Amino acid sequence: MALTGVTRPGHIQLRVLDLEESVEFYTNVLGLVETGRDTQGRVYFKTFEERDHHSFIIREAPEAGMDFIGFKVLNEATLDLLETGERVRFTLPTGHEMELFATKTILGNPLGDFNPKPYNPGLDHGISPVRFDHALLYGPNVNDALALLTDVLGFHLTEYVTLPETDIKGALWLACSNKAHDLAFVEHPEPGRFHHVAFLMESWERVLRAADIMSTYDVTVDIGPTRHGITRGGTIYAWDPSGNRFETFQGGLAPYPDWGPIRWDWSGLGEGGGLDVAKRVLHETFLTVLT
Ligand SMILES: [Fe+2]
Repeated sequence: MALTGVTRPGHIQLRVLDLEESVEFYTNVLGLVETGRDTQGRVYFKTFEERDHHSFIIREAPEAGMDFIGFKVLNEATLDLLETGERVRFTLPTGHEMELFATKTILGNPLGDFNPKPYNPGLDHGISPVRFDHALLYGPNVNDALALLTDVLGFHLTEYVTLPETDIKGALWLACSNKAHDLAFVEHPEPGRFHHVAFLMESWERVLRAADIMSTYDVTVDIGPTRHGITRGGTIYAWDPSGNRFETFQGGLAPYPDWGPIRWDWSGLGEGGGLDVAKRVLHETFLTVLT
C-alpha cells in the first residue's frame, strides 16, 4: 500500500466537443460543482463532497478523449524521492499522460469538518457522486505500465484478465490504496485511448437513482445498472454528450496489498460475469467504443 507515496487519484482532464453543452451536462446531470475557469478555456469541477479545488476538468477540442490523469503524492519530499519537480507529467507506456502533484488549493466542502451533518438536501443536485474515483484506459504495452506503476510508483495489482489462449495479462486493475482499483488498463493497439472515468456513489440505491436521472435527461446508457464480477462494484456505464464514457460506481472489494491479485481468463471476463454479473456476456461496446 502506497499511502506514503502515491496516495490517490486527484483529477482527470477530458476533451469535449461543445464546452457549454458539457458544462450544462456535468453541472445538472452529474451534479458536479463548477469551481473555476482558466485562460485556456478549461472548466474545473469538484463534487460537493470533495475538498480539493477540482477533480474533473474539461476543455473544448475537435475530438473527445482524455488529456491526462493526475495522482496526488503524500508531500513534496515524495516528489523529490521520485526525482521529479513540483508537479510532473510523463507518458505511460500505454501512451497516456499522467501527472503527480503534492499540493492543490483546498476549498473544503459545505458540510464542513466540524460536527458535520451527513447530508444536505439543498446540495443534492443531479447524480451527485461522492468523488472522482478511477479511470479505465486502453493502449499498448499494459505490462510495461504495470511494471512502472508497481515497481516505481508503489501501486499494487488487484485483479487481471489474461488474453485468450495465453497467460499474458491483457487487462489490469491497479490500486495505490486498499480500493478495488484506482487505475485500470486494457491492452489495445492504439495508444492513449480512453474508456471511462468513474465517479463513486455512496450506495447501490444512489446508483439506481442515477439510472432514474439518466432516464430523465435521455442520457445514453451503455451497460447496467448491474454489478462487475471484477472489483465487485455496482455500476452503470453511460456516455456524456461528446461520447466520453462515464461510470457511476459503488462498493466493490477493498483488497489489502498482501492478498495478491485475483486472476480471470478471457471467458471469465465475459460469460464468467467479470464485466457484467447479471448478463454474463462480454458486451462488444466494452472493447470497441473508446474516445
Ligand atoms: Fe470503472
